[in-house]
Amino acid sequence: MKLQAALLLLSAIAECRPQFGGAGSSLPLASKKELKPKLRDNAKRVMLSYGPLLMPGVDEKKPGGGFSMDRKGLGGSTTFTSKTGLCSNCTVLLTRISFHNEDGSPAKPSNGFYVHHLLAYDNSKAARVPISSDGATGSATQAFTDRGEDSGDTETIFTTPDGKYNSGFHFRTPSLGIQYDLVNYNKTSRRVYLDLELEYLDGLIGKDAGHVMKSVQGTPKVSKSGAATTTSKTMTVTEDATIVWARGHIHAGGTEVVMTLNGKDVCTSRPTYNGAGVITEMSICPEPIGLKKGDSFALRGSYDLTKHDLRESTDGGGHMGTASDTMVMWALSYAFEGK
Ligand SMILES: *[C@@H]1O[C@H](CO)[C@@H](O)[C@H](O)[C@H]1NC(C)=O
Ligand SMILES: *[C@@H]1O[C@H](CO)[C@@H](O)[C@H](O)[C@H]1NC(C)=O
Repeated sequence: MKLQAALLLLSAIAECRPQFGGAGSSLPLASKKELKPKLRDNAKRVMLSYGPLLMPGVDEKKPGGGFSMDRKGLGGSTTFTSKTGLCSNCTVLLTRISFHNEDGSPAKPSNGFYVHHLLAYDNSKAARVPISSDGATGSATQAFTDRGEDSGDTETIFTTPDGKYNSGFHFRTPSLGIQYDLVNYNKTSRRVYLDLELEYLDGLIGKDAGHVMKSVQGTPKVSKSGAATTTSKTMTVTEDATIVWARGHIHAGGTEVVMTLNGKDVCTSRPTYNGAGVITEMSICPEPIGLKKGDSFALRGSYDLTKHDLRESTDGGGHMGTASDTMVMWALSYAFEGK
């Protein structure tokens, strides 16, 4: 529920406070590294590191003005533009956001750092989503990527997973607004850096792509005696598009997330569990999925507690997650087929 609640809340806030600024000033660009591209040989791939962000110790007072959904959290926002390292007039194929500690090591739950959630929007673009509202999430500007510890250290791709589909998220003069809610579980303060990885092509190449999350409404059903399935409302495709990349999102206890088009199952994303009952990976749709204006789109997901336990806590901190902390969602990227 966390990410969904955050999406709802943030879209509500965005309506009345378009300049929602959290703790205020934007993080400066600290370093830029060139990496070898993964999807296409002719692409560029960079790692932009921003910070440092000073995080008070877990029980210390957090700076005013920030907003957190976690009583120990540090909420805030930051904006990145071409002045702080983003490419402009370029086509993003892949992005990933992660964090590192001052000593260069990854900041993660095992060393006391937790991403409650993080949402990134290109505020220079109005939201254009080819599927009507799910009644649970939404935003006025174009979603770009997201993170949450319960969805793992995942990337977002704006072409097919093999990089071949001629589409990408067009950055003209991007203004990437990032809303974060982070927790430092250490007693003492720490400094972290936000790492934004981008693989991109120069110029506006191929079809423009966007990203969105689609969710069931409310808390999904669970039952101790077998599979319990929750279905979303039926949505309508509002313009022709192709889903190029899609990954289901479900929490421990979940067995599958299914996408349906005109009542037919078109993709199933299944979790991989490790020995400790933690989801380490969700499968990705193997083929692009064509959407035609007027199609009906829905999703459903199942939890089966006879197969996998719910986790007491999804955050490694043991203080917030509860057995009702379940979700069923798709994170998906789409390319527009019309103008
Ligand atoms: C946070 O605490 C963990 C566990 O004590 C420790 O391993 C880690 O080095 C600390 N990290 C920082 C940045 O203080
Ligand atoms: C954008 O990129 C295209 C292709 O690389 C190039 O032809 C064009 O001049 C660029 N436009 C601007 C405004 O930089």
